[in-house]
Amino acid sequence: MRITSALVDPALLDLPWSTPLEEWPADHLVALPQGISRHVVRFVKLQGTVYAVKETREKIAEREYDLLRALERISAPAVEAVAIVADRVALDGEVLEPVLVTRHLQFSLPYRALFSHTLRPETMNRLLDALAALLVRMHLLGFFWGDCSLSNTLFRRDAGAFAAYLVDAETGQLHLRLSPGQRGEDLEIARTNIFGEALDLQAAGLLHEGIDPEHVSDEVVRRYETLWHELTFEQAVEADTRRQMDKRIRRLNELGFDVEEVSMSVVEEGGHRTVMLRPKVVDAGHHTRRLLRLTGLDAEENQARALLNDLDAYRAESDMPDEAQAAHRWLTEVFEPVIRAVPPHLRGKLEPPELFVQIIEHRWALSEQAGRDLGLAPAVQSFLANVLIHRPDEQAVLGYEVDDDMLMSSDDDEDEAPEDESLVD
Ligand SMILES: Nc1ncnc2c1ncn2[C@@H]1O[C@H](COP(=O)(O)OP(=O)(O)OP(=O)(O)O)[C@@H](O)[C@H]1O
Ligand SMILES: [Mg+2]
Repeated sequence: MRITSALVDPALLDLPWSTPLEEWPADHLVALPQGISRHVVRFVKLQGTVYAVKETREKIAEREYDLLRALERISAPAVEAVAIVADRVALDGEVLEPVLVTRHLQFSLPYRALFSHTLRPETMNRLLDALAALLVRMHLLGFFWGDCSLSNTLFRRDAGAFAAYLVDAETGQLHLRLSPGQRGEDLEIARTNIFGEALDLQAAGLLHEGIDPEHVSDEVVRRYETLWHELTFEQAVEADTRRQMDKRIRRLNELGFDVEEVSMSVVEEGGHRTVMLRPKVVDAGHHTRRLLRLTGLDAEENQARALLNDLDAYRAESDMPDEAQAAHRWLTEVFEPVIRAVPPHLRGKLEPPELFVQIIEHRWALSEQAGRDLGLAPAVQSFLANVLIHRPDEQAVLGYEVDDDMLMSSDDDEDEAPEDESLVD
C-alpha cells in the first residue's frame, strides 16, 4: 500500500486498506448522506475529522487529486483533496482499486438531503442561484467542469441562501481562461445533467408539483448567463467616468466579487467621446475576505455580509473610528458571547456564523413584533429556547460529530419548521 499526500494523517495508515471499500466494517464508517455516484464512496472519521474515501481507477484518482489541489491553490470552492492510497492488495492477493481521500465538507448538504422534504419553490430558486454562481466562479477561474450536476455539488447554508461547492472534479480541466465555446459546452452539459436529475426527483415524488424539470435546468443556465453578463459586460460611458466606474465596482462588490483591474478604451466618433469600461472580476468572496481580515472569522459570502453589517452598526453606535479596533471589540464583546451562550449540546445544530446570522434575524423579527428594539440578549435566549432546540442536528447529520441517536429522524421539528429549514429528516 502506498499513500501520496501533502500532509499525511498517520491515522490514515490504520484504515483497513486490504479490504474493498464495500466491505469496510461499520466501526470505521460514519453514515452521512451522499449523492448518487458510480464509484463506491464511504465516510470515515479519524480524530475528529471526517474524510470521504472514493474507490476509483488509478489514473482517475491521480488526475482528480492534482486538479483538486490546483483548485485549492486558487481558492476555488471545491472539496479538499487529502491523499491517494494506491497499490492496495487484498489478503487473498487480489489487487484492489486505489482510493482518493478528500476532506468531508462540514455542514454540507448533498441535494438529495435537501430534497428529502419536498422543497419549496423559493428554496429551489436559491439552490439554482447557488449552482449558477458556482459555475460562474469556476469559469472565471478558467475551470471547465465537464460534469456539472446537482450530484456533483454540495450546498452549505449561507444566511438564507446557499453556497455551492464542487465535489467531483474527475472530468475537469484547468485553463488560463475559457473561451465562450468552452463555457457554452460546459453549460450544455450542466443543463442536460440537471434536467435528468430533476426528472429523477419528479419520478421519486420529491419535486414540488409547481416545478417543471425543464424549467429547473433552463433556470440554472439563465441565472448563469445573467450573472456572467453582469460581471463581464463592457459598459459604454459618455460622461462622469470616474463615478460610473465606482458605481460598477460597488455593484460587483455587492454581488460578492472583487475587481482586479478595469480596462478602459476611448472611442471618438464625430466629436463624441465614449469610454468603454470593462472590469476584470477576480473571484467571489469579497465580504468573506473582509470579514476574515478584520476578525479572523471564516464565513460564507452572505453570512459575512450580514456579520459585517452588524459589525458596522456596532462601530457606528460605539463611535469607534478605527475599524480594526472596532472589529476586535465586536468579536470579543458581541459575537463570541452569543456563540458561548449556546449550550454544548445545541452547538452541532448550526455552525457559528450561520447561528449568529439567524439570531440577528430573530432579533429583528421579535423587535418588529414588539414595535421596538428588544436588544441582543433576549433575542439569543428566545432563539435558543424557541427555535434552535427544534432544529435537526445538522452537524451530526451533515458534519462530523455523529452518533446513532443523532441520525434518527426528529419528527418533532415538523410542526415548528417555520420555513424550509428542516431540510433533513
Ligand atoms: N469531500 C466530500 N464531502 C462531502 N461529500 C462528499 C465528499 N466526497 C464525496 N462526497 C459525496 O459522495 C458523492 C459521490 O462522490 P463523487 O461525485 O466524487 O463520486 P463519483 O463516483 O466520481 O461520481 P460520478 O458518478 O459523478 O462520477 C457525492 O455526490 C457527495 O455526496
Ligand atoms: Mg459524482
